[in-house]
This record gives sequence, structure tokens and C-alpha cells, in this order.
Amino acid sequence: MAIRHFLDIWQLEASELREILNLAHSMKAARKGWPKGRVDEGAPLDGHILAMIFEKSSTRTRTSFDVGIRQLGGTSIVVNSADMQLGRGESIGDTARVLSRYVDMVMIRANDHGDVEDFADAASVPVINGLTNRSHPCQIMADLLTLEENGLDLKGARLAWVGDGNNVCSSFIHAAPKFGFTLAVGTPDRYVPDDDDIELAREMQGRVELYSNAEDAVAGADVVIADTFVSMGDTDADERLEELEPFAVTEELMDLAQPGAKFLHCLPAHRGEEVDSEVIDGPNSLVFEEAENRLHAQKAIMRWCLDK
Ligand code: CP
Ligand code: NVA
Repeated sequence: MAIRHFLDIWQLEASELREILNLAHSMKAARKGWPKGRVDEGAPLDGHILAMIFEKSSTRTRTSFDVGIRQLGGTSIVVNSADMQLGRGESIGDTARVLSRYVDMVMIRANDHGDVEDFADAASVPVINGLTNRSHPCQIMADLLTLEENGLDLKGARLAWVGDGNNVCSSFIHAAPKFGFTLAVGTPDRYVPDDDDIELAREMQGRVELYSNAEDAVAGADVVIADTFVSMGDTDADERLEELEPFAVTEELMDLAQPGAKFLHCLPAHRGEEVDSEVIDGPNSLVFEEAENRLHAQKAIMRWCLDK
């Protein structure tokens, strides 16, 4: 069997993505009310080691993967890339070949998406993308799990992304054709999503609509999604905050969506910038369920990668 990397949502079959979400739903239900440190029934990844490499900061990804592998019966090693020989010129390929001799699976958060692809090409164990400049696929799996738990049928649903057409937005674009929802994206011209992502989704018959204002994107949406206006690695914070300000999610903007429309944000959030407190702390916000579901979705992703 080919090595099962989890690098981008567009690379998996819709049936495989469905299988992962179903597994996440059932594993979450099976351990309802358990202490967080108890190992899942059958310890499906008993004896397996996950290495995590971080080139950028993380609260959720780091903790949820670490807890997740333990709940599956395995163990983890977390490394800051600056502490590795990578920083002194060792190649990505050699690093991948060496780590593949020690561990069963590697999760990487990197600045450059190409580095994660190069790592996966050289690795002989599964590699998981824990966020790059281009995408954040684990986040979107957790988000879709959250929406389904809250009763949304993804097929035919209308999701609105407003703000920066960034890495998280790209993974939503990749997911639209796979799960059958429409994604309406509202961004300023300067911060539109990458053309390649739009083209990719449309080649897969994805329904992705682009708007140059937040109001048209949000009109009639079942879900409104925001993210920071300044991602890790962005160097033009002042320009971004000014240009993206009209794309902030306010209660007035939410009023244009379906009554009771849900609000998502991958966190960390900046109240008063991309979203108002009344929205993110309001009754239709799912942000903390979303954060919890990183754990459940990623456990299913790790099991899929190892076919266990
Ligand atoms: N949403 C997310 O990936 O959070 P962290 O940067 O804290 O991992
Ligand atoms: N778009 C954000 C997501 C953080 C989880 C970033 O890349 O910094």
C-alpha cells in the first residue's frame, strides 16, 4: 500500500475524507465522559510514535496531537525545528529519512508548504500537514466535524469565508467539492485566495463563489467563518488591518446570514479586529467545540494514515 500522507484535502478521495469524519464522530462518542488521559478501547496505535516538528508557534495543534496520540495508545516527541540540524544546513530529505527510522509518523508545521511536500517525498512513514503558508487541512476536518455535530448537512450547505483569502481559506476551498458545500469567499482584491486553489476546486466541480465585499458573501449563509487578518509570517500587518477592517464579522454582518447561522474561527482570535466579542462569545459561536474537535479529527487522521 502507498504511504498515506495527509498533506492536503484535495489529495484524498471524498470517500476517504468521509471515512475519517465518521471515525472521528464514533471515537468521540465512545469516550464521552472519560478522563482525558484514559486510552481508547483497544489502544489502536499502541506502540506507535508520532514526531512533531514546529517551525511556527502553536497552542492547539501541538496539544491536541500530543493528547490524541496518547489516547490512541501511542507516544510523541515534539521538536522545535530551530533545535534541529535543519537550522545548520542538514537537508529536509535527509531529516525525513532519518526520522523515518525512529518514528511511525511525522506531523510538521512549516513556513513553506514545499518543505512539507519535500519531507513527505523522502519519508518512508506518513506525514501530516499541521499548517503551512498554503493550507491547514487538519483544521478544516475539525471544523466540518463540528458543523455536522451541530446538525448541518454539509451537502448543499452554504459556508461564507470573510477576510483574508489565506491558508485556512484554501483548505476550505479544497474541501468544498469533496463534501458538496458551496463556499462563498468575501475578500478585498489584494487578499484574494490563490488562483490555483480556485482552479483546483472548480476542476473537481466545487462551488466556490468570490465576492469583493463581506455582505454579499455572507448573504443567506448557514455558517460564517473568520480568521486572523495577520497570519504567522505576514510582514504587512498595518496594511492588512486597514484594508481588511470592512471584513470584520459583526452582529450586523451576521444578521445577513441565515437566522441562527453558526460562527467558526480556528483561533487564535483577535476580538475587535476580525470579529466582535458579541459574535465570537455569542450563542451561535462554535469556536471552542471547534478547538476541541481538533483532537477528535486528528485522532481519526492518524488512524487513517496508519490504516489502524
Ligand atoms: N488553530 C490552530 O492551528 O491553532 P494553533 O496555532 O494554536 O495550533
Ligand atoms: N491563518 C493563521 C492560522 C493560525 C492557526 C496563520 O497561519 O497564522
